[in-house]
Amino acid sequence: MSAAGPSSATGRVGVGIIGAGVISTQYLTNLTTFADVEVLFIADLDTERARERAEEFGVPGHGTVAELLATAEVEVVVNLTIPSVHVEVGEQIVAAGKHVWSEKPLALDRDGGRALLQAADRAGVRVACAPDTMLGASFQTALRTVRSGRIGDVLNALVLLQSPGPESWHPSPEFLFDGGAGPLFDIGPYYLTALVHLLGPVARVTGYATRFGRATLAEDVVSASFELESGALGTGLWSYGTRESRDEVRILGTEGSLRFSTFGEEPLVLTTAEGERAIEAPYPATVQLPLIQTVVDELTGRGTCPSTGESAVRTARVVDTLLAEHRERHGLTFS
Ligand SMILES: NC(=O)c1ccc[n+]([C@@H]2O[C@H](COP(=O)([O-])OP(=O)(O)OC[C@H]3O[C@@H](n4cnc5c(N)ncnc54)[C@H](O)[C@@H]3O)[C@@H](O)[C@H]2O)c1
Repeated sequence: MSAAGPSSATGRVGVGIIGAGVISTQYLTNLTTFADVEVLFIADLDTERARERAEEFGVPGHGTVAELLATAEVEVVVNLTIPSVHVEVGEQIVAAGKHVWSEKPLALDRDGGRALLQAADRAGVRVACAPDTMLGASFQTALRTVRSGRIGDVLNALVLLQSPGPESWHPSPEFLFDGGAGPLFDIGPYYLTALVHLLGPVARVTGYATRFGRATLAEDVVSASFELESGALGTGLWSYGTRESRDEVRILGTEGSLRFSTFGEEPLVLTTAEGERAIEAPYPATVQLPLIQTVVDELTGRGTCPSTGESAVRTARVVDTLLAEHRERHGLTFS
């Protein structure tokens, strides 16, 4: 997290949520079953939506952002608003002296993310950021497998995300077509965070972004080539607009290779000299629990959270680099 600030002394962390949209259901389902946190307040620009969510999940408080931030027992605020206001809302949370737990992306670009982390440092509060998948079963199993040495030294990483686009899963996807919000911006953080956690920092990245027929400035397709500090080379392709969906990561090593998905529940596939072997890694009953646990541990001084504001800013740097030319071509500026 961004600052070595105070941690909760209560043991049970008081949580507020800003943004009562689609993803709030998953957060509320998970957070309200976790004994170490207590969801106390839910706020939204649309206060009626906040009220409905609060009643659905038995959250005692609901209303405006100002009312949430004035609730003393709320120590950490989960920011589930749309990406274009993540920094603005994050800065309001920080100004109220509360810790920020942000949905991805932390900011529209690296400068926005840095500004938020600096504000948090000055206020002595901390910043955690999604994605929770880096602590999910599939990715953690991949991490253990690679670290066990079963595929030898890692030479390459391949990432492939293809999808018809957010219209296929979101009831009101307009915000996902805002200037910066194509597949790299929206889905890329899951893969980039995971790869860095698995294989180490990105040293260099280059690539192309383009868009096809949509009435939006967001990129539809991004292809990337990167070199990790370890010396391993990687390739990524993130594409919206294809008929099928595919979500695949491959890690290629001197002794074998590993294939897994970021969002699916199918087994990982390990290929070595002994042949191909499936490794089961089903979702836990409460999928966000590992991330919730580490965020709470950090706030209560019992441990550390690996998915931080700093890791999110590193991800933003890679996204900025890959989208720089596309953004310049279309006059997209954020900070
Ligand atoms: N929907 C998904 O499947 C999904 C999955 C993972 C992550 N996310 C991320 O979660 C975030 C929210 O996504 P969503 O799908 O729930 O969006 P959504 O549009 O369904 O909901 C966003 C909510 O935020 C509220 N809001 C916007 N600006 C606000 C402000 N300034 N103050 C208070 N409330 C404000 C809106 O009124 C709306 O209710 C995004 O960053 C998205 O990338 C979404």
